[in-house]
Amino acid sequence: MGGKNTTETVFADAKGIARAARILAGGGLVAVPTETVYGLAARADSDEAVARIYQAKGRPSFNPLIVHVRDAAQAAQYARLEGDADRLARSVWPGPLTLVLPRREDAGLAAAVTAGLPTVALRAPAHPAMRALLAACDLPLAAPSANRSGFISPTRAEHVSASLDGRIDLILDAGPCEEGVESTILAIREDGRWDELRPGPVDLDALHWRLFDGPRESGGAGDAIEAPGQLASHYAPGKPVRLHAAAAEADEFMIGFGDIPGHCTLSSSGDLAQAAARLYACLHEAARSDLPRVAVAAVPEAGIGVAINDRLRRAAA
Ligand code: TXA
Ligand code: MG
Repeated sequence: MGGKNTTETVFADAKGIARAARILAGGGLVAVPTETVYGLAARADSDEAVARIYQAKGRPSFNPLIVHVRDAAQAAQYARLEGDADRLARSVWPGPLTLVLPRREDAGLAAAVTAGLPTVALRAPAHPAMRALLAACDLPLAAPSANRSGFISPTRAEHVSASLDGRIDLILDAGPCEEGVESTILAIREDGRWDELRPGPVDLDALHWRLFDGPRESGGAGDAIEAPGQLASHYAPGKPVRLHAAAAEADEFMIGFGDIPGHCTLSSSGDLAQAAARLYACLHEAARSDLPRVAVAAVPEAGIGVAINDRLRRAAA
């Protein structure tokens, strides 16, 4: 691997992980697979290392980062992990749920990680490569999706290298990501209220029923601005995107679903989990295509379909 690229891609085996851990300890940037998308990791306790993430991505500095940890015990060093938050962390982690919680005064995280907010976003990822890396470097790792800001998230090592080659120190390759869309983000407020800031693989209504044996009260509106990943244009392939398309027009790259065929399909059998896993690969293919516009078949607004449609709306905005 590597070839003509400036940034080397290595397998996420023991040797690759050890090398990545050394780079991170030294303040460098490593792209690493998680179960959702590939992340661009740097040590979260270093101002210089975190500044490099913003630089490499061209990310606006008001958009805070998720801090990745091994488990709830490590998370409790950075945030007040109490009540529902503690219960959620212990039942869902490691997994694709990010908790936004009140930050501890003595957290010791770089200021830019939280972009000046009194809260911090924390997640213990499930992917074995990311878990091995967190154990090997024994540091909190800030990691946004490993793409240029505003562009499509990466679910394969090739996507990372196409977007960030020459701007980061190493890419760990462990094949395609299983979930394919970013973690569910849940803010738990001082008064205990739940605010879903980003839909994702974890269904919060189902989770609430499972843990509390009752329905979840829907959070207040207007919190989305707090998570700029939630702002209108994001995940964009750099050309117009038309949603709910029944068929392609002559100049459109068609992304199909179920019975509706296309140049590529999210899932020909109409399977939503498969559609989530293939979403960004299809958008990357559409971006690379010579066709100037993109059309996407309708995807049901159920389960992980909610997260898929959320990302598609932003790709189209
Ligand atoms: O699945 C994921 O979450 C992936 C993998 C790599 O873990 N990461 C990811 O990071 O999607 P990123 O930076 O692309 O999205 C993080 C989102 C942003 O929308 C950001 O605004 C929000 O989390 N966020 C971070 N800290 C926050 C905070 N303190 N309050 C509210 N939102 C926050
Ligand atoms: Mg992102």
